[in-house]
Amino acid sequence: IRIYVPRDASALSLGAEQTANAIAAEATRLGADIQIVRNGSRGLFWLEPMIEVETPAGRVAYGPVQAGDVAALFAADFLHGGNHDLSLGLTEDIPYLKRQQRLTFARVGITDPVSVEDYVAHGGFRGLAAALKISSSDIVQQVTDSGLRGRGGAAFPAGIKWKTVFGAQSEQKYIVCNADEGDSGTYADRMIMEGDPLVLIEGMIIAGIAVGATQGYIYLRSEYPHAFRVLNEAIVAAKNAGYLGAGICGSEHDFELEVRLGAGAYICGEETSLLESLEGKRGQVRFKPPLPALKGLFGKPTVVNNVITLASVPIILDKGADFYRDFGMGRSRGTLPFQLAGNLKQAGLVECAFGLTLREILYDFGGGSATGKPIRAVQVGGPLGAYMPESQFDTPLDYEALAAVGAMLGHGGIVAFDDSVDMAQQARYAMEFCAIESCGKCTPCRIGSTRGVEVIDRIIADQDHAKNITLLRDLCDTLLAGSLCALGGMVPFPVTSALNHFAEDFEPRVLRAA
Ligand code: NAI
Ligand code: SF4
Repeated sequence: IRIYVPRDASALSLGAEQTANAIAAEATRLGADIQIVRNGSRGLFWLEPMIEVETPAGRVAYGPVQAGDVAALFAADFLHGGNHDLSLGLTEDIPYLKRQQRLTFARVGITDPVSVEDYVAHGGFRGLAAALKISSSDIVQQVTDSGLRGRGGAAFPAGIKWKTVFGAQSEQKYIVCNADEGDSGTYADRMIMEGDPLVLIEGMIIAGIAVGATQGYIYLRSEYPHAFRVLNEAIVAAKNAGYLGAGICGSEHDFELEVRLGAGAYICGEETSLLESLEGKRGQVRFKPPLPALKGLFGKPTVVNNVITLASVPIILDKGADFYRDFGMGRSRGTLPFQLAGNLKQAGLVECAFGLTLREILYDFGGGSATGKPIRAVQVGGPLGAYMPESQFDTPLDYEALAAVGAMLGHGGIVAFDDSVDMAQQARYAMEFCAIESCGKCTPCRIGSTRGVEVIDRIIADQDHAKNITLLRDLCDTLLAGSLCALGGMVPFPVTSALNHFAEDFEPRVLRAA
């Protein structure tokens, strides 16, 4: 009997290792014939460690299962789907999962992340097989036609980026996967790398074949040690099965892949600092142009794509551009893995087509706030995203619709706050974050962010209130216009959205007290 216990970092942090050990020990004691598979997480974090048992009717889930619950589960005959207080029924019928449209995450939580056999049994490497049958330019065309846009946050059309690299003349080209997922409240990249690393590897191989690159690098943040281990195991497995190295699947294509660790700097998620860091230098932003697509890693044409962008490519090649394009709305095609975090009852990963509203995500999936108080503000798109008030909760989650209300979807992180939040403190946090993480290359960001913290401190302390509010807005304008990259250029979004939508939190204390 197969029992699935996640090896995902979120499940491990909640005791999954101890649960797996307890299951193994109890099975030995009872002489039960079981096989424990360490899968990825299904992304229902409030139920982790969530374990599943394979039964003839399908997988039956239990959660959250601590080591101390294991003996009682055996007593309730959970090996045959027996009923227990922690029973969740058939996994596929759990409403949180059933309502999702999992394309990129189709296998996460289902397969053994490092088993090529399991991956292939669940449709893996079919995208690569399809890619090997068509020309490189046709692969690029498929990605273009699918409407896939960069999932790291900037939403630049992936096909256009690939076309630029495809058209560049060079002996050597590179595929670089940006796995430096630094946005607060985001974890989709990590979940893919820990739960289905082979889909990322397949996406990178297809990208290499498409643009003529033979070497790939995954630039991984060092804060993800579990992902590092799983990725390296999966690379070895893919290599042993003939999917990496020389003559992929008997073709004339070669592709090598390595994982490189970052050193904990947020700015190394910016593509040009990432390339500097990958080259062994200090992670500092480069001027653009030249674009990395033309002069990237070691000055060679380079595709730099986020994990989710690359992991979405196999299904596009397998099922066709139209299949993928049929999901979504407007210019936002396909699906996005939304990552719910903060003050929510049911924080977790929700992959859905673009277009559902923020309210649906917060209440239908998130279940409202964990504290039961009203949700007052939601930061969408990481630490540089705007704070959205209740009046904007009906905005559809699509790149353009969010931009139209002065917000951004970014990498799909959604962090909720109840009515105990102090938005002046949140604005201060954004400026402080920028001051700590600034690479120091340009003045508005390097110096402006520190002055910004001081100005907000004066506002909070009621010193020259009106003057300091004007100063803060001026400073935001300067950062917006005068910064070289998104860190300094976007920190005004959380600050000004807090000022615009939650002005009462910036009022002089006497007024607030009244
Ligand atoms: P950008 O708009 O400058 O560039 C987007 C991408 O398109 C880049 O890769 C750029 O090289 C490429 N590009 C632009 N024109 C091109 C052309 N003609 N041909 C080929 N490629 C072309 O945005 P940037 O600075 O790369 O990213 C900013 C975004 O990053 C923000 O919107 C934010 O959402 C996101 N972000 C994500 C984080 C995360 O943890 N995922 C952290 C911080 C920011
Ligand atoms: Fe560096 Fe900030 Fe300038 Fe970006 S905006 S290049 S992080 S100093």
